[in-house]
This record gives sequence, structure tokens and C-alpha cells, in this order.
Amino acid sequence: MAEDLTIIQGSKAEIYQSLIPQIKGLLDGEPDLVANLANVSAALKEQFGWLWVGFYLVKPDSKNSAETELVLGPFQGPVACTRIKKGRGVCGAAWQNSATLIVADVEKFPGHIACSSLSKSEIVVPLIKNGEVIGVLDVDSAELDQFDETDKQYLEEIISQILLQ
Ligand code: SME
Repeated sequence: MAEDLTIIQGSKAEIYQSLIPQIKGLLDGEPDLVANLANVSAALKEQFGWLWVGFYLVKPDSKNSAETELVLGPFQGPVACTRIKKGRGVCGAAWQNSATLIVADVEKFPGHIACSSLSKSEIVVPLIKNGEVIGVLDVDSAELDQFDETDKQYLEEIISQILLQ
């Protein structure tokens, strides 16, 4: 496996089409989820230069082990909130709905959790294994309206590759 990423310029679709085979190479034969989430965060951050790219994983609630909450996992970018309840913020809403959420302007999203005041738009993609959300991929941009159906399609493909390992 080559450890250097080839960074390209081009349309968003061209960039994802160059990146995805490289991500598959990074994931190939590696069963450790945290290692794979760490490398995917790094690859996305390096190629796109987004403000924040990372994962939250569904884990027992620190105060009530009968409940679960999202806990910060591997990421690239500024320090972030560590725990998010179901239904809270964009991440908690994507978890609750088991669906990708695209937010063009985070200030217009009721309950958005501002880990960084620099974040302006966001996409959150749930990791769904055997019908259950086990975590989310969260990507934040310092620009408004940076995410669309192309990001949704390719980021969901990247998540499905992670879940195949
Ligand atoms: N903005 C997210 C919280 C996570 S940070 O952006 C890294 C939300 O509203 O769920």
C-alpha cells in the first residue's frame, strides 16, 4: 500500500473518483475500525482542505450506561465537542433519522452545535451497520453551502467501503 496520497485538482466528482480508489487501498485488508476512520479523516482533509473532518461513534452514555450517545472519534481539524446526544445538533439529527443531512448554513439549523465558530456549512453521513447507526461522519466547511448531492453520493460510498472491512 502506498502511504502517499495523490492530490488532484478538478471537479468535485473527478476529485472523489481519484480519491476513492486510494481510500480503498488504505482500507484494504485492515479490519480495525479506528485505524480506518483515522486514515479516511486524514485523506479527506488532505484532499479537500475542509475545516473539520471526523467521526463520532455511538457509545454508552457516560452518566447512564443504559443509554447511548455520540462520542468523538478519529478526526482532523480543530478540537471539538466530545459528546452529542441523539437528536442534538446536525450529528444527533442524522443519527436519529438514519439519514445523511446537508446543511447549507449552520446558523439556520435549529440546535446546531457550534464546536467552531468558523464552521459555516456541514454534511453528516451516518454509518449504518446491520440496520443500526454505529456512528457518523461529520464534515464542516468554513464556507457557506459547500456540500451537495455529489458529496452525499461519494461520502456514502466511502462509508460503505469502511463498513465492508
Ligand atoms: N456541528 C456539529 C457538532 C460537531 S462539530 O461540528 C465537529 C453538530 O451540530 O452536530
